Parts: sequence; C-alpha cells; structure tokens
Amino acid sequence: MSRHPLRSWLFAGALVGSLGFGCTDPEEPFPTLDELEKLQGLHSPARRPPVDPTNKYGDDPLAASLGTKLFNDPGLSSCGTVSCKSCHDARGGSVDTPKALGCNGAQTGRNPPTVLGSGYSTWFMWDGRADRLWNQALLPLLSPIEMASTPEILRGRLTATYAAEYKTVFGKLPSEETDEQLLANFGKAIAAYERTLNRNEAPFDQDVIRFLAAVEQGKAEQDPAYLGLKTFVRKGQCILCHKGTMLSDDQFHNIGVKDVSGGQRGVAAAADAMLTWTFNSAGPYSDAPAGLESNRLLRLGNDLRQKATELEGAYKTPTLRNVELSGPYMHTGDVATLEDVVELYNKGGEPTGNFAGVVSTSIAPLNLADEEKKALVQLLKSMTGAVK
Ligand code: HEC
Ligand code: HEC
Repeated sequence: MSRHPLRSWLFAGALVGSLGFGCTDPEEPFPTLDELEKLQGLHSPARRPPVDPTNKYGDDPLAASLGTKLFNDPGLSSCGTVSCKSCHDARGGSVDTPKALGCNGAQTGRNPPTVLGSGYSTWFMWDGRADRLWNQALLPLLSPIEMASTPEILRGRLTATYAAEYKTVFGKLPSEETDEQLLANFGKAIAAYERTLNRNEAPFDQDVIRFLAAVEQGKAEQDPAYLGLKTFVRKGQCILCHKGTMLSDDQFHNIGVKDVSGGQRGVAAAADAMLTWTFNSAGPYSDAPAGLESNRLLRLGNDLRQKATELEGAYKTPTLRNVELSGPYMHTGDVATLEDVVELYNKGGEPTGNFAGVVSTSIAPLNLADEEKKALVQLLKSMTGAVK
C-alpha cells in the first residue's frame, strides 16, 4: 500500500468495504482500499513470462528459433497443409469462426484461444487437459482433427529439415531419440517460441496507472477510465476471476455459457487423464526437480473430489489481454462480440438447463446500465497490446 498513500475518506470507506467482495455498498466512493489493492494487481506484466521449471529450454534463444520454424511448418502434419499457425496467428488472432479446420477438413470441437501471453499460464486448453505449455503442443500435433501427425512423421521431418539445429539445442540427432523424448523436445522448442509471443503493453495499463494517480489526488471520479474500472471491479465483479497481470486467475469456473456441445463437462472430464499423463509436468519428461510440480497436480486432484459440483462444466478463465483479437468468444465460440459477452454476464449466464453443470456462485444478474455496459466493452477493447 505504501506506493499509494490514500486520503482519509478512502480509509473510512475501506472499513465498510472490507466486509468482503460483493458486499461493497454501491454508494461507497470507488475504490475502497480492498478494491484499490485489486487494481494495483493489474499492472502490465514483465516482458518475459516467469521461468517454467519443467522446460529447461524455455528461455533458450536457439530453441525458440527452432520452435518458430516448427510452429509455422505444415510439413509436420500428416496432410501436409496444417501448422500451428493455421489456427493461431502469432500476432494475436486466431480463426474468426467458432471452430477451426484441421487436416482433411476435420473441425475442432472448440474455439482456438490466443497463444499470446500463453507463457504466463500453467493450465492449457479450455478444459485444462495440458498442465504446461510444452506438453500442450503435443495434443494438436497428434490430434486426428488438427495436425493428425505421428512420431514417425515428426522424426522424418525433423531429420530431413532440422537435424543440425535439433542437435545443437538437444545434443542428439532426431534419429537417436525415443519417440517420447522426441515429442517432449518438439514441445519444448515450440514453447520456447510461444514464450516470446507477448503483446502486453496496452492502453489499459496506462489507464490503470493514470487512474491510480487520480485516486491519490482524490480525483478518481473525473478520470475517463472511472466508470469502466468501477464496473469491472465492483458491479460486474469481473476482477474476481479476471485478475492480476494477465487478467486471469488461471482457474476453472462454470459461468453458464450455453451448452452447444452435448453436455461436455469441461475440466471435470479432462483432469483425470491429465493427472496420469506421461507428459504431465510431474512426469519423466519434465525438467522440474522431483516433487516441485506434484503439489499443483495433487491440488487439482483434491479439488476434483471435494469440489466436484463446482468443476462440472467449468472451463479455464482466459486472459483478457488482446481479447478483442480472439473473437468469437468462450470455449464454444458461440458468443460473437464483446457486447454479447457483456450481455451474457449481465443476465447472469444462460438460464438453468442451457449449460452443463452448476453455474458459479459468483455469477449473478448484474443489472448494468447502458453506460456501464459501454464502459465495460471499451475497457475490454483497451486491453489490446501494441505490436512490438
Ligand atoms: C486445427 C486448428 C488448430 C491447430 C492446427 C492447432 N491448434 Fe492450438 N488450439 C486450437 C483449439 C480449437 C484450441 C482449444 C482447444 C480446447 O481447449 O479444447 C487450441 C488451444 C491451444 C493452446 C491453449 C491456449 C490456452 O490458453 O489454453 C495453445 C497454447 C495452442 N493451441 C498452441 C498450438 C500449437 C503450438 C499448435 C501446433 C503444434 C497448435 N496449437 C495447433 C486449434 C488449433
Ligand atoms: C467466476 C469467474 C468469472 C467472472 C466473475 C467473470 N469471468 Fe469472464 N470468464 C471466466 C471463464 C471461466 C471464462 C471462459 C468460460 C467458458 O468458455 O466456458 C470467461 C470468459 C470471458 C471472456 C471471453 C474470452 C475469450 O477469449 O473467449 C470475456 C471477454 C470475459 N470473460 C469477460 C468478463 C467480464 C467483462 C466479466 C465481468 C462482467 C467477467 N468476465 C466475469 C470467468 C469469469
């Protein structure tokens, strides 16, 4: 708190506001101390994501250079036409359609998220079926509806095109590796590249910095970002889940998105396989010291048993950085625009019966006024980073 000394009226407000999130009196001057702390957590992230102890090549520039080529290479797919880039454009976009097309015209079940800033997450895929960035890359490579590849195709391509580079990074030729080691190294090179895809410095960050200064001067209400931030933090409760530097808690919630995929259960269905996966972050291909990652997995395992209802139909909170570029929205890709997203939250999710599982207790009708909705959409749009 010491960076932002506050006026006494704020302290007075904080006593009332600190009863808990959602209990803040709507008439209370914004922000209370509690809310201020949340706002301070939104600052723009460091240029490099935190070190991933499970991938010792994660910050190796040679691995990243190999990973760049692999990310863009359709020769790794069985059909010869699909690369990671087909569905994720490195400038932040993904496909504009709800679903994406893989080999032989097969269609993905979900909407491709942005890969920008993916180095900051620890769970991947909407349902969390990968627990580190490098092991995520194996799923689309091997998925019959994406790149439909095999270890043989991977070995052939690496040998024909990248043998020398591969050996420089990993110390062996592709032909000398086991299938599993080859797959793990492929993922680690791709992840080293993805960790460089950050587009974080957005107008939003400048707005938050300026707003915090205005709070100190007792001029919060005059600041142009006042209504957007107030709605995001207080009435909309968005910051409950979209928090911290990446505007995501990296957790799973059911927000009542319309079920258009036959009752899929989200993380509740995906986690068991991930927890026993050879390539998970506690497995033999992880570079982390033994035990370091297992707590994280154990916690999810416990949650699956103890919070089964909460995790039924729950999906990962996506980052909101660059969100304007990744539409259409939600795991279903069924919500077309940011205006529609705000409407969905405003009605407290779809009516019961239209989504799988039980909606999170934090999701309720918001009764937003038109200007609050507009301010929220404007705030979301301000989260698009500048191209480096
Ligand atoms: C045919 C389209 C397609 C291809 C090809 C593809 N992806 Fe994806 N990607 C998707 C979809 C769809 C999802 C969401 C899947 C889900 O959650 O069920 C996704 C999810 C991801 C995520 C998770 C992001 C997050 O925040 O959870 C990452 C990272 C990613 N892909 C990277 C890659 C890489 C690396 C490759 C190449 C090895 C690749 N993708 C190839 C469509 C594709
Ligand atoms: C209880 C946690 C929670 C709260 C509160 C919450 N969100 Fe979300 N948000 C999520 C989750 C989880 C998803 C993905 C849901 C899915 O696809 O099923 C999501 C998805 C989104 C998306 C779509 C992003 C994309 O790339 O598809 C936007 C935009 C968004 N939220 C904005 C907001 C706004 C604005 C608010 C406040 C009005 C808010 N959220 C409140 C958890 C939350």
